[in-house]
Amino acid sequence: MNKQCLEIDDLDAAAIERILANAIAWKQKPASLPKVLEGRGAALLFEKPSARTRTSTEMAVYTLGGHPVYIRPEEVGLDTRETVEDVARTLAGYTALIAGRTFSHRTLERMADAVAIPVINLLSDAAHPCQALADVLTLREQWGSIEGRRLAFIGDGNNVAASIAYAAALTGMEFSIASPPGFELPEPVVERVRNLGGTIDTFIEPGDAADGADVLYSDVFTSMGQEAERAKRVESFRAYQVDLALMTTAKPNALFMHCLPAHRGEEVTSEVIDGPQSIIWPQAANRMDSVRALMVELLEGS
Ligand code: CP
Ligand code: NVA
Repeated sequence: MNKQCLEIDDLDAAAIERILANAIAWKQKPASLPKVLEGRGAALLFEKPSARTRTSTEMAVYTLGGHPVYIRPEEVGLDTRETVEDVARTLAGYTALIAGRTFSHRTLERMADAVAIPVINLLSDAAHPCQALADVLTLREQWGSIEGRRLAFIGDGNNVAASIAYAAALTGMEFSIASPPGFELPEPVVERVRNLGGTIDTFIEPGDAADGADVLYSDVFTSMGQEAERAKRVESFRAYQVDLALMTTAKPNALFMHCLPAHRGEEVTSEVIDGPQSIIWPQAANRMDSVRALMVELLEGS
């Protein structure tokens, strides 16, 4: 059985705790990084564009002593040139892990089922676990302890929302979300959060979710692959912009997070994202530190 991280709850609370502690330790003392990928490769397959995820994952592999191999889908032809499973088995012959950004979450599940090496989700239609790991790392650094804090997600019940909801449950944070009707977090996701022991409150009004929150979290209204729905989404999400007024509904000194890329003037105002409560740049930088610690966790256990 391979160790995988297709969604963040593939890790238990203890594994997340180890990953966060290691990420912080190795950030402070890079010389102590275990070179678990020395002389080995990591296959990084991207069906969608990326700035943060590609760069942070390549640098993570490099700093662990390994060689990242960036692969575009047109080169390998998933299910056209050969099956997803045969692509995965081929890559496993040369590399120590496979990480993929895919349209369909199922593609990653098929890869993970076909190989014995770790498979990491770098964003699918359902999940963005590496983002959620960086997010909890960032909050841990801000507050020391994140247990009992409240995170409010404002907007689409999408891949990023699902993963941070699970991450909140696994780290003892309360989670609330406000989404317009028709764009809510799917009911099975809400149930899964509760089954993990998490506290989750779902709302329609942004102010209800933001009320008393320690951090407001925003993402784009139109995710990659949904471009045809953009006009409809912009209309449906008009009231879901995080602005200074919404920030005042949260606790005083509440933080603002965004996974990026951001559209200023759409899901968030410039005043908020570029203002003193925003922690988007440490959050983005932590993508490298957290995925590196995740790789060590998966490779050492496999
Ligand atoms: N947050 C994030 O995943 O950014 P990229 O799409 O640029 O990788
Ligand atoms: N929800 C967004 C996140 C981008 C990092 C998307 O899937 O496009």
